[in-house]
Amino acid sequence: MARIPFVCGNWKLNKTPDEACALAQDLRARLDGAPGVEVGVCPPFVCIPAVAEALKGSTVSVGGQDIFWMEKGAYTGEVSGPMLVSAGCRYVIVGHSERRGRFAKPGPELAGDLMAVFGDNDTTVNRKALAALSAGLRPIICVGETLEERQAGRTEVVVEAQVRAGLAGVRPEQAEEVVLAYEPVWAIGTGEKCDDEEANRVCGLVRRLLAQVWGPEKAQGIRVLYGGSVDAQNAPGLMRQSEVDGGLVGGKSLIADDFEKIVKAAQQGKGMG
Ligand code: PGA
Repeated sequence: MARIPFVCGNWKLNKTPDEACALAQDLRARLDGAPGVEVGVCPPFVCIPAVAEALKGSTVSVGGQDIFWMEKGAYTGEVSGPMLVSAGCRYVIVGHSERRGRFAKPGPELAGDLMAVFGDNDTTVNRKALAALSAGLRPIICVGETLEERQAGRTEVVVEAQVRAGLAGVRPEQAEEVVLAYEPVWAIGTGEKCDDEEANRVCGLVRRLLAQVWGPEKAQGIRVLYGGSVDAQNAPGLMRQSEVDGGLVGGKSLIADDFEKIVKAAQQGKGMG
């Protein structure tokens, strides 16, 4: 079964609602109805209604950047699955390395203990993934090693632990709703992309783990994205890799021209565009 590639923009802490609406309208004009690829954008929470309105009736999906696992209650500052759904979301990023407090090059604003301010760990990531699924959202579960872990030869161990923990308790019939994103921490926002072959190797490892959890047939239908400094130049090579089913794109998803080129690369890389 051919997996439809998925290219998802992670807008992080960028754009006011007005700016987000303008970018969404631009992306809609460029990408609505693009064949053989699925496209999504994950704006900041406050921008979601404006972006959902701008993309209404188009093929471009909207996602949140995080979720809390309780539906409502005394949890100041949190946003729940049903809230995201009613605001127009189809996806939600879960366990992004920045939410796990794992930054490639933390600036002074995150010195010392402040780096852990976002505080996700494997247990909370799992709760969030399960909450997303029960709300009817598709979780994009992010995994990936730091530079220190890679240099210590621990890439596989770290990725395996994160994948297994993230998926604990996900029922086999929910498997197709899940998207995995391999995002080596050292490649995020640094301009240092992982080699095509290495991205393919680790995405392949993720798929083998999915096969162990849900069986090879189900694993063949689940999208495994690569993320970390994806741009218009390196996207064609990455998107040609057999185990890479698209990209989670940060910085370049804010520039409509570049994002469009990355989407085209995903279409062409899979022979669908
Ligand atoms: P980047 O971010 O494309 O800016 O490296 C990717 C991500 O964090 O998802």
